[in-house]
Formats: sequence, C-alpha cells, structure tokens
Amino acid sequence: MNRRHFLAASSAVGVAFAQTAQSVNTAVIGTGGRGTYLLRGVIEQPGAKVAALCDIKPDRLDKAATIATRDNPATYTDWRRIIDRKDVDAVFIGTPPYLHSEMAIAALQAGKHVYCEKPVGVNAAQVRALVAAAKASKTVFVAGQQLRSLRQVGEAVRRIREGAIGDVIMVKAQREASADLPHDGTSGDWYFDVSKSGGYLIEQSVHNLDLCNWAIGARPLRACGFGGTLLYKNDPPGRTIFDCGSLTYDYPKGVKMSFTQSVFHPSSMPNGNQYVYVFGTKGAVDLMANTMAYPADAGTKPYPLAAKQEEPTYAHLAAFYDAIAKGGSLPADITIGATAALTAILGHEAMTRERVVTWGELGVDL
Ligand SMILES: NC(=O)c1ccc[n+]([C@@H]2O[C@H](COP(=O)([O-])OP(=O)(O)OC[C@H]3O[C@@H](n4cnc5c(N)ncnc54)[C@H](O)[C@@H]3O)[C@@H](O)[C@H]2O)c1
Repeated sequence: MNRRHFLAASSAVGVAFAQTAQSVNTAVIGTGGRGTYLLRGVIEQPGAKVAALCDIKPDRLDKAATIATRDNPATYTDWRRIIDRKDVDAVFIGTPPYLHSEMAIAALQAGKHVYCEKPVGVNAAQVRALVAAAKASKTVFVAGQQLRSLRQVGEAVRRIREGAIGDVIMVKAQREASADLPHDGTSGDWYFDVSKSGGYLIEQSVHNLDLCNWAIGARPLRACGFGGTLLYKNDPPGRTIFDCGSLTYDYPKGVKMSFTQSVFHPSSMPNGNQYVYVFGTKGAVDLMANTMAYPADAGTKPYPLAAKQEEPTYAHLAAFYDAIAKGGSLPADITIGATAALTAILGHEAMTRERVVTWGELGVDL
C-alpha cells in the first residue's frame, strides 16, 4: 500500500467527518450482478446509508431500489447526477470495466470516497489517468481486488515473505473454466467486446495475477505469450475476446511466472479451475487452495502455512468504511489496483502484439 497517499487520505477524511453527519451517504453506480452484491454489503455496514442508485437499465435499478428499501434511495439513469450530489460521500462503481476509470476519476475529483470494481481500467491510458486522480485526491480509494482481504492468504504471503519457502523463484498459475460466461447472462452485452471488458485476462484473471504479484512481492518487468479464440470462434457473433492464452512474465531478480487461461477445461478433468503455486528455493506453496506448504526436503511433511480462518463475506467493503471512518489500512489501494490491472494489460498487449512487451512501455508512473 502507498503509505504517503494513505496518510493524506486519512487526515482529510478526519476533517470531512468531523464536519458532517455520522452516516456515510453511499451511492452505487451500476446495479447489475456485482453492483447488487455490493449493495447488499453496503446495507450491512454500520453507519452506511444508501443515498442513491444508478443504472441505465430500469429493471436493474428497480430491483436494486427494492433491495435498499430501508434507505429509500434516489434513483438515476445518468451517473453524473450522482457525482453532482454534494451529500453523497462514497460511490461504488460496478459498471462494465471500460467505464470504471472515467467514473472513478469524476467521483474522486468531486471529493467522494471510491470503491471501484476491478479492473480499474482496460488500457494503460485509463489506468494512468486514474492513478493521477487518486494520487491527487484526499479521499479513500479501494479497488475491488477482494482477494487481498482473505486473511488466510494474507498470512501465507506474510510467511512467504519471512522466508518460509526460501526465496521465491517461480510462480505457476492458471484460471481455467469449463465454459464461457453465459452468452445471454447479465454481462453478455459487454463482456465479449474486448474494448469494453478488456478480455478474459484483464476482466477475470486480474484477480489471479494480483495474487501472483502479492506472492512474489513485485510487479513484472515484461511479458510474452500467445492467445487466441480456438473454440468459441465468432461465438457470440462479433466476439473480440480470446478464449485461451498462455503467458510468461519476467520479474525482478529473474523470478518467472507462468500463467494459462482457457474456458474449455472439462469440469470432470483434474487440475482445472484456478491455482497459484509459489515455488521457492526451499519448497513450494499452494497459495489459492489451502496455503499448504510442500518442503523441498522430501523427508519433511507438507504443512499448512496459514491456519484456516473464517473469512467474512464483506470484509473488503468493511475495510473501505473503516478507512473512511477511522483511517484504517486499505487492503487494495490505487497502487495495488493499478498494478493488478497493468499486469493483466501487459499480458494482453503481449498476446495481441505477439511480442515481448515491457512494463515501461505502459507509461504509467506508480
Ligand atoms: N470483484 C469481483 O469478484 C467481481 C465479481 C463480478 C464482477 N466484478 C466486476 O464488476 C463489474 C460489473 O460486472 P457485472 O458482472 O456486475 O456486470 P453486469 O452487466 O451484471 O452489471 C453492470 C451494470 O452496469 C450497468 N451500466 C452499464 N453502463 C452504465 C452507465 N453508463 N451508467 C450506469 N450503469 C451502467 C449495466 O446496465 C449493468 O446493470 C465488472 O467490472 C466486473 O469485472 C467483480
């Protein structure tokens, strides 16, 4: 986390809340699948009040308003009317990815706290503009990289950093699904358009890539790899996102990361789904599944690197409100959110340009 930015945010927050009422007037922009989930979480937070909701689809807006009946929120189809409302303190952004950066920048510049769903942008220019706005702002910004709020994984990463498996030298990770996202699902009208979602790597694997960065404790220097659409060709019609890809990332100190993704791994076949295997000089860790450590010394039995913990459903949201009220630490600030998005964008650029792409080429100063 960027400590300098956080301290600036927390001191300003203290001022803001000394002057205003106790409750945090909250708005949700984009009340589809994820926005509705977030809305339910907002309602559970002590001190949060749902002041406004926005969606361009009236049926989704109505459904969200019903969920938030307790607070009788105003409803809008034009998100800028929420930005204009001076009494809205915090904004959740749950719209399709290509809209995140513009909406988050407008909210930050209007002095609002922002919880922005991942990815924080679908290209480097969007991320660059958002990073500049977040760094200039005195409010709280949280990216929806909620795996950062998993306590067990956080503890395992801490143990890795302490040297539990020696020096991290390689990570092998994947995000394999057994099918495409439903073509007629709630996000079917934007997900298959690469300019709107960014594609599978940027829209979905951004979570997995963030875990890889977390485990390695660095961001990649460069990436290369290939992707394509091999099964779902022009399906749905006009599709511009890949359905598979295979990437290699190179990190400082020569650390390597290998990442694959596809949407045609039969669920009955072993080794599907998602994993992040972290390899060190003294052993390896299955970070995503159970944090089991496997010592290199064959005579030492595997052991859990971190104890299983109860993971509160809305821990990531709670951390956002804690930071607003008390200046608590942020699980995924702008640096983490931007780094995750840029790691995915780097891989996407490598696959589409079919060459090695360097971090420096992205032109974002973190
Ligand atoms: N953190 C997570 O684990 C997680 C999980 C699912 C989705 N997401 C993210 O949440 C975002 C939304 O995904 P989803 O699955 O909910 O999609 P969705 O299509 O179900 O919801 C998006 C909503 O935004 C609305 N919208 C579109 N343009 C708008 C505009 N200009 N103004 C206001 N509303 C607008 C749509 O009408 C829709 O209701 C994506 O960025 C996705 O990556 C994150």
